[in-house]
Amino acid sequence: MAYNIPQLPVGSNGKSIPLLGFGTAEYPLGNTENLKEIVLRAIELGYRHFDTAAAYQSEKPLGEAIAEALKLGLVKSRDDLFITSKLWCNDAHRERVVPALRNSLRNLQLEYLDLYLLHWPMTLRPEAEILPKEEDLLPFEMEFVWEGMEECVKLGLAKCIGVCNFSCKKLDKLLATAKIPPAVDQVEMNPVWQQKKLREFCMEKGVHVSAYSPLGGRGTAWGSNRVMDCEVLHQIATARGKTIAQVSLRWAYEQGVSVIMKSFNYERMEQNLRIFDWSLSPEELQKISRIPQVRGCAPLGFISDKGPYKSIEEFWDGEI
Ligand SMILES: NC(=O)c1ccc[n+]([C@@H]2O[C@H](COP(=O)([O-])OP(=O)(O)OC[C@H]3O[C@@H](n4cnc5c(N)ncnc54)[C@H](OP(=O)(O)O)[C@@H]3O)[C@@H](O)[C@H]2O)c1
Repeated sequence: MAYNIPQLPVGSNGKSIPLLGFGTAEYPLGNTENLKEIVLRAIELGYRHFDTAAAYQSEKPLGEAIAEALKLGLVKSRDDLFITSKLWCNDAHRERVVPALRNSLRNLQLEYLDLYLLHWPMTLRPEAEILPKEEDLLPFEMEFVWEGMEECVKLGLAKCIGVCNFSCKKLDKLLATAKIPPAVDQVEMNPVWQQKKLREFCMEKGVHVSAYSPLGGRGTAWGSNRVMDCEVLHQIATARGKTIAQVSLRWAYEQGVSVIMKSFNYERMEQNLRIFDWSLSPEELQKISRIPQVRGCAPLGFISDKGPYKSIEEFWDGEI
C-alpha cells in the first residue's frame, strides 16, 4: 500500500514540500549499507521527500535509488520527488558553494535540487574533517556564503535555498541582507524541544520550518532518548493505541511544519506514515505543550575559545 503525504508550497517557485520527509543520516555517518534498497522501499510506501547532505555520505546511494525508481516506474518523473541536500561547513566559503552543489548533484545523478540548505551557521577550513580541530574554525561570513547560495538558484541548480540550525537572531540578520530570502530553516524540533519562539518568528517572516530529530534522534551523537522515554507521550500513546513515535510525528505535523524522520527499518518506516488519519485532542495538545523543554543538539565541535563561538549559549544566540 502507498500512503499519500500532504504537501505545502514552499519558497517562491511554486514547488510543494511533502510534509513528512525521509532522513538519510545514519549514525555513525557514512553507514549507508543497504540505503539504496531502503529508499526504494520508502518510495514504494509513498515517501517523496528525501533529506540528505554532503556530510551524511548518503547522496550516492540515494541517487542510485532515485535512478532505479525512475527506471522501474515507481515514480513517473524526477519532478514527483522533493530532494534536499546541504552544504557542509568546509564549503561555506563564497567561491566554494556552487562547486559543492555541483558535486552533490553529481553524487545524486540529478540536474537540480528542490532545496539546498546551509548545514550550520559555521565555516571551517576547506581541508577540515567532519569533526573539526580548533584551528579549522573560521569566522562565518553569512552575507558572502549566502551570495553563493543565491547563485545556485540563479544557475537553476536549486529551486529553493534555506538554512539549518539558525536562531531567530541569525535569521533576522540574514533576512535583512538576502536578495533571495531563505525559504526554510531546518531545526531540531520535537515534543521535548518545541521551538515555540522560532516557529512564531518564522511564521511572521514567511520562513517554512522543517523539523529534524522529531523522535529525538535516539541512538545518534546529536540526539537522546528524551522523546521516546517521555512519560506524557507514553500515556497519550497508550490511551490512543498509537506508538510514541506516531504521537511525536503527529504533534509536529499539527504544528504546520514539515517533518524529517529517519528509519531504516521497514516496519517502522510504514508505522511512521500512519499519522494522517487521526488527530490529537485539544487536551492532549495541552499536555504536550507543558512538557519541560530541553534542547538536545549541542554542536560541541564548533565551540572553542579560539573560534567564532566561545560557548553553546553564544552559538544559539542565547535561544536555549
Ligand atoms: N539539519 C541538521 O543539522 C540535521 C541534524 C540532524 C538530523 N537531520 C535530518 O533529520 C533526519 C531525522 O533526524 P534524526 O535521524 O536525528 O532522528 P529521528 O528521526 O528523530 O530518530 C531516528 C531514530 O529513531 C528510530 N525510529 C524511527 N522510527 C521509529 C519508531 N516508529 N519507533 C521507534 N524508533 C524509531 C530510528 O531507528 P531505526 O532506523 O532503526 O528505525 C533512529 O534510531 C536525519 O536523518 C537527517 O536527514 C538534520
